[in-house]
Amino acid sequence: MAGVAAAAVVLAGGCTSGDGEAPPEPARSFAPGAAGAGDPYFPGYGNGGYDVASYDLKLGYDPATDELSGTATVTATALADLSQFNLDLAGLDVSRVTINGVAGSRTRAEGNELIVTPPTGLPKDREFVAEITYAGKPGQLGTAALGQGGWLHTGDGAIALGEPESASTWFPVNDHPSDKAAFRLEITVPEGLEALSNGVPGERSTAGGSTTWRWEEKTPMAPYLATLVIGQYRVETGTHKGRPVVTAIPESLPADGPAARSMAETTRIADHLETVFGPYPVDAYGGVVVTDQRISYALETQSRPVYGNTFFRGGENLSVVAHELAHQWFGDSVSVRQWKDIWLNEGFATYAEWLWSEHEGEATAQQRFTDTYAGFDWSVPTGDPGQANLFGPAVYQRGGMTVHALRRTVGDEDFFAILKAWTAEKRNGNAATAEFVTLAERVSGESLRTMFDAWLFGTTAPPVPR
Ligand code: ARG
Ligand code: ZN
Repeated sequence: MAGVAAAAVVLAGGCTSGDGEAPPEPARSFAPGAAGAGDPYFPGYGNGGYDVASYDLKLGYDPATDELSGTATVTATALADLSQFNLDLAGLDVSRVTINGVAGSRTRAEGNELIVTPPTGLPKDREFVAEITYAGKPGQLGTAALGQGGWLHTGDGAIALGEPESASTWFPVNDHPSDKAAFRLEITVPEGLEALSNGVPGERSTAGGSTTWRWEEKTPMAPYLATLVIGQYRVETGTHKGRPVVTAIPESLPADGPAARSMAETTRIADHLETVFGPYPVDAYGGVVVTDQRISYALETQSRPVYGNTFFRGGENLSVVAHELAHQWFGDSVSVRQWKDIWLNEGFATYAEWLWSEHEGEATAQQRFTDTYAGFDWSVPTGDPGQANLFGPAVYQRGGMTVHALRRTVGDEDFFAILKAWTAEKRNGNAATAEFVTLAERVSGESLRTMFDAWLFGTTAPPVPR
């Protein structure tokens, strides 16, 4: 959604008609879309100049060769007169691109950018459909500080996962949460393997030794929340409150072990969170547990979080389920516009763990707050933690404490009204910290700037509200 780059191609106006009466069309200036969405922490993530409405992926994957191939149909609207535009695509080869069904685009790969120059410019405000045919062995992206994300080839399949970016390792994408879109996925794998992704399961079909799995998430989704897990899994399906429920655990884990039992609590936990956060915001319920050692975290992949089995080694773990489900409201439905605001995701997901603990009759949110506050390192500001601290304690624990400080300041009635107003008003959208502060002040009728400044941006212990 950022502006367009400088170099412009000026096209002549329309033909003059015979009588000379019609005013000439103004000359239009078509320029390339930017190579990044302009995020201060990750300037190269995403792209400028267009807004994606949907991704329609038709892919095939063979775990024996680690080859992924297929087509991505990207339906988007130009936000400026575009002479060319970028998609993010890491390490895969493009063989063909059509725009609105027409071949003849020039394409060029530059690092993890796919640069597409259509034969004619894409006019502002007009929808266009790019179909990209591609193939290759997908890889990983990442940094030492943030860890790796992307496509992992496992013993029996693959896991596509990762925050703050991962999607571009398996499909061409505008890989930034500011551009949310609907997703449809068809994935063909060898018969006998399961293939799990986001949203509502579609029809499954088997022919010639291959099975095609279909998934659809209509609720707008940030690309890093797209996942694909292929392998040998025990899949449980059902419905809850009219929505499909799909959970899966690796076949190597016991059907009644702690991972399975934790997944089975998904809808009970989501129902409790609904009483605090407002209506469940996405198309389906579920969760997928993975045992690959390289996945040491859980991620709130939309409607179907992925959990590293490390969380369940010591028994059932409903805290992590509450955390990932809370992200369906905070992070998935209401998404960050810029990564510096990640406490809007993690602070609330941490707080959901505290609320769940209290609900289950374990430590109260107040006890969790007090324990976390003691001896805390306040040097990193929660509201602008820096790239390297994206997943650090300033974001998670101090973020959770900030939410509790708000609760103490405004009282329970206004606090829960703020949470529900936020998830309702920002639903399916993007948001920033300043917007949360404004909303909290409006709903509570109180001046909260000093409190939020101390909790989000100070570098010394903030005063505890009485
Ligand atoms: N958003 C995830 C969660 O807390 C965390 C992802 C952590 N990623 C990482 N590379 N460490 O639920
Ligand atoms: Zn989280």
